[in-house]
Amino acid sequence: MSDTIRRIRSFVRREGRFTPGQQQAWERLMPQFGIEFSDQPLDFERLFGRDAPVTLEIGSGNGETLVTLAAAHPENDYIGIEVHRPGVGRLLRRIEELELSNVRVICHDAVEVVERMVLDASLDAVLLYFPDPWHKKRHTNAVSAAPIRRAALLQTQGHWSLPSGNRLGGLCPPYG
Ligand SMILES: C[S@@+](CC[C@H](N)C(=O)[O-])C[C@H]1O[C@@H](n2cnc3c(N)ncnc32)[C@H](O)[C@@H]1O
Repeated sequence: MSDTIRRIRSFVRREGRFTPGQQQAWERLMPQFGIEFSDQPLDFERLFGRDAPVTLEIGSGNGETLVTLAAAHPENDYIGIEVHRPGVGRLLRRIEELELSNVRVICHDAVEVVERMVLDASLDAVLLYFPDPWHKKRHTNAVSAAPIRRAALLQTQGHWSLPSGNRLGGLCPPYG
């Protein structure tokens, strides 16, 4: 990774108010469904208590895609990575409402999670849906999704899905 890319943070945290309800849900549900960031690779079998294909969503937002997939495919396991805490709070509540046992979430920068916590060829699929547009024009050439895409590609043995509404051409700049 070049120094230019290293110096630019890969996301902008535009966090609104964390409501008391969200705070409560966070405290109650994170110990159950959340994964702490660490330098150690994840052990999926231990995490989910079974050996099943694992799909990772980078920037899972409120988690609607993830819970829809998880409910439709109970035979698979799903992990969301999201830096926006209210979004993670909403996902936690949906996991509880739908009584899903096959979803976990990490509230941390996806670049670091993918680099440190996911072993090569360990995932069945990686999803990157509609990343935010990068708002500083001068960064658009320096920052690209290349590092995260390269890293994530190494980790999937199956599918890589990247639709984008990004006006900058689908290179997903915030993730660089
Ligand atoms: C436009 S939203 C899309 C959410 C979801 N994928 C969907 O399709 O509804 C992009 C999300 O990516 C998250 N994000 C951006 N950069 C990130 C990073 N480096 N690590 C984790 N999440 C990130 C943002 O906080 C935001 O919630």
